[in-house]
Amino acid sequence: MTESPRTALPSLKSPPGERLEIVSAWDADTPYQAWRPQILVPPTFRPAQPSRVFVVVNQKGGAGKTTSAVELAAAWAAAGLRVRVIDADHQEAALSVWLVPQYPEGKPRHSLRSVFFEECSLAEATYPTLFAGVDVVPSSTDLQQVEYNPPIGAEQTIAAALAQEAEEAGGRSPYDVTLIDAAPSLGLVTVAALTGADEALVPIKVGGLDMKGMASLHKTIRSVQRKTNPKLRVGAVLLTAWDKSGFARQLAAKVSEDYPEAAVIPIRRSIRAAEAPLSEEPIRLYAPEAAPAGDYDQAAAVILPAPGVAA
Ligand SMILES: Nc1ncnc2c1ncn2[C@@H]1O[C@H](COP(=O)(O)OP(=O)(O)OP(=O)(O)O)[C@@H](O)[C@H]1O
Ligand SMILES: [Mg+2]
Repeated sequence: MTESPRTALPSLKSPPGERLEIVSAWDADTPYQAWRPQILVPPTFRPAQPSRVFVVVNQKGGAGKTTSAVELAAAWAAAGLRVRVIDADHQEAALSVWLVPQYPEGKPRHSLRSVFFEECSLAEATYPTLFAGVDVVPSSTDLQQVEYNPPIGAEQTIAAALAQEAEEAGGRSPYDVTLIDAAPSLGLVTVAALTGADEALVPIKVGGLDMKGMASLHKTIRSVQRKTNPKLRVGAVLLTAWDKSGFARQLAAKVSEDYPEAAVIPIRRSIRAAEAPLSEEPIRLYAPEAAPAGDYDQAAAVILPAPGVAA
């Protein structure tokens, strides 16, 4: 194997613009024109600790799942944590294209599909990326086979693979953080991701809101909690492509009613976010001065505080 040098992810010493203010309740009285984006950390919120498995989930397409998975991974890796991202979306495999896996030469290439069909372990399907501290389990369109021809116990596959890996590593995951980037559907692979995770992180695109969609995600999370994963909780809602509007504010209030224990975190809109995947770099590296880089940095520090990351 030819080792590629891995790029260190920078810490953001002077984040763009002002950092977002952290509040414990919404200020309902200020008119929205005078309102500033704020991070809501309700008194019931509990920050996560390593080792933690997150699923970034919303069945609505284009909600900001892949962007959130990549940027949170980059923020935690910059803070010195060992991070793995699992691509659980067969459709465009956007994550596997963005975080180009570094396959060793002359060996079979595994993916999340191989883990579902018991062709390899999770560790064998995990590859380095070009970024220090971030590894990836890639996927491609063949992950759809899981939906058409489900292997026995498919819903439990990710949970079992994570448990087996931790056991082999002496009872603790070799990663401080695992982030699963879910597909825009509530199919079997998404249910397996929810079943394997400790926490769901829900990105919602401001302006792309669909109330019916939010209700069905809520219902799926509830039934996973009842049937396959009672420990699952919603840790944070990320309001992506945030712009100041009366609507953004209403949305923030609504999600904190739906998920009273979750942090609600705005991620400001920037064209740089849309450009970053083409450069095959996280926004943090491509445009460290752009608002979303700083907002995701703060989001990471709130969700799972690590040495070196200050909210
Ligand atoms: N903060 C932001 N500002 C501007 N554009 C953004 C922001 N976050 C994400 N985007 C853009 O929105 C689009 C959808 O984002 P992304 O691919 O992360 O969503 P997704 O939920 O993973 O989509 P899919 O459901 O197709 O997997 C992308 O073009 C992305 O670059
Ligand atoms: Mg995606």
